[in-house]
Amino acid sequence: MKTLLKVQNLCYKYPDNHEALKNINFEINHGEKIALVGANGSGKSTLLLILAGAMEQTDGKIFLSGSENSEFRRKKTGLIFQDADDQILMPSVIEDVAFSPVADGMNVNEAHELAAKILKSLWIEHLADRVPHKLSGGEKRMVTFAGTLASSPELLLLDEPTAALDPLGRWKVIKFLKDTQKAALLATHDLDIAREVCSSALIMSHGKIAAQGNLPEIFNDEKLLARYNLAAFD
Ligand SMILES: Nc1ncnc2c1ncn2[C@@H]1O[C@H](COP(=O)(O)OP(=O)(O)OP(=O)(O)O)[C@@H](O)[C@H]1O
Ligand SMILES: [Mg+2]
Repeated sequence: MKTLLKVQNLCYKYPDNHEALKNINFEINHGEKIALVGANGSGKSTLLLILAGAMEQTDGKIFLSGSENSEFRRKKTGLIFQDADDQILMPSVIEDVAFSPVADGMNVNEAHELAAKILKSLWIEHLADRVPHKLSGGEKRMVTFAGTLASSPELLLLDEPTAALDPLGRWKVIKFLKDTQKAALLATHDLDIAREVCSSALIMSHGKIAAQGNLPEIFNDEKLLARYNLAAFD
């Protein structure tokens, strides 16, 4: 399989000197879906923000399709933020979902058609004319998901995409992720979703990768999961 993303010795220190990422190394192949799991504060969101080009790493290299350019990464990755409110920009859902294609030069009518198609593919076409800020938490999350897909990313960077979703919303996201050919890095505390969607797993702990590899092998290792507070609490 061909490599899509390669991360080498990646480090990140927040301005207050907190070292959130320490020497991270891994690769994602085209079409591969990797679960990113680990305790609160282990560095999952920080990693996704840097991969998406929203923050610059302190050290190390990131290659997406061989390019180290962070502007290229901003265009080719689709980040779903942990907090949906950080991602909603426009006065109606349809405009919000059409925002990236329009910003990239697509004609507005065409972009609205594309947005309508994406809303339909996620079974949320009934939200098209609603005001995004007035939506419920789960509805907002589905809308940010649609907005991310509208920019046709090559790599999905998903930060807790099913948080706040009801069982039907959760099913929609899982179904979509299982069906899509796109590569994805999926940060989640929900190991069942990871099991359903991903073939590989990365466990993060205190800013480092504690384990990585084949998902069934990692998730069936009870001792490993317990060591990183992912299972067996008594
Ligand atoms: N703006 C910031 N300034 C300083 N430290 C930060 C900042 N944002 C996050 N951190 C710290 O960096 C570490 C990693 O945070 P991050 O949000 O990446 O964790 P996470 O794995 O996504 O956690 P969660 O499961 O709770 O979402 C934490 O210790 C956090 O306190
Ligand atoms: Mg997080």
